[in-house]
Amino acid sequence: MTDPQTPDDAQPQDQQRRILTPGSDLNPRREFLRSAALFTVTAGALGGGLELLTRRPGAGSAEAQSADPFARPARPLGPYDTKEAVTPYGQATTYNNFYELGLDKADPARLAASLKPRPWTVRLDGEVRKPQTVDIDTLQSWFPLENRIYRMRCVEGWSMVMPWLGFPLAALIRRMEPTSKAKYVQFTALLDPKQLPGQRQAVLKWPYVEGLRLDEALHPLAFMAVGLHGRVLPGQNGAPLRLAVPWKYGFKGIKSIVRITLTSTQPQTTWALAAPSEYGFYANVNPAVPHPRWSQATERRIGELGRRKTLPFNGYADQVASLYKGMDLRKYF
Ligand code: MTE
Repeated sequence: MTDPQTPDDAQPQDQQRRILTPGSDLNPRREFLRSAALFTVTAGALGGGLELLTRRPGAGSAEAQSADPFARPARPLGPYDTKEAVTPYGQATTYNNFYELGLDKADPARLAASLKPRPWTVRLDGEVRKPQTVDIDTLQSWFPLENRIYRMRCVEGWSMVMPWLGFPLAALIRRMEPTSKAKYVQFTALLDPKQLPGQRQAVLKWPYVEGLRLDEALHPLAFMAVGLHGRVLPGQNGAPLRLAVPWKYGFKGIKSIVRITLTSTQPQTTWALAAPSEYGFYANVNPAVPHPRWSQATERRIGELGRRKTLPFNGYADQVASLYKGMDLRKYF
């Protein structure tokens, strides 16, 4: 039995609710049955190792490997990886929140072809010594790619386990050479209604923006993903570059980033702009603080029946709780 209070399992009442809930599930009962029928695979079953996670199909030859950043040698399961069942590729890429590509869960996969992740540049600026605009392939070549198997908990009350491929955000920020004034990081997604037709509707203020405190951004869990399940990141999951901060609600994981700006003051964030009483800047996963319209105590893992308990900081409390020492997490939600 599922909790009827959560938007994940409840039919949205009206358009307003649809707008104010990140990615309201517009036909949740049908989606729930479909998800439950699909199976999950364990991290261990993903090929007896992580080689599968670092290769694109057809990247087998030495020549292809040297030209292909996704063919770099894999690492064994690292200290930040969960050993929990990984959400299958088919589900992780067809049940998405990406409002620039539609409001329904199935829309982003359907409309992703309009998003062109190459050529693509990322502006690195603000409180840095060397502002610059860099091509995505150059940016990616600066860092060895790593696998990170992270839980992802959406504010709506569902979760997945995502095998990302990418690099630590801290490595990029260090390379940007922050000035002493840098205290926050602002991320900006692509603004282009031709590529992102959902931007023709003012359901949110475009472009989608997000932010982190600098010490959060420098935490080793904060990750920039360029791949998923060993393949280049699909458009619907935020190609070519998206953020993964697994101790925070999924809406912090901004997709299709074109600009990263270090700032001295706290940047604006899309969902806090849209509904400040419902979504805060911090958005740390917290089962003790309900959303004003539903409980956050439990979640539905996509592909599973029933619900499981949501853990403080999404199970990453040992690593990140010290970042918030002395802060009232009900106030800074
Ligand atoms: N990034 C952009 N640019 N636009 C969005 O609508 N949705 C967010 C986040 N990043 C969103 C976004 C939300 S609400 C969630 S839960 C996650 O992306 C979902 O990521 P996924 O589709 O890869 O599972």
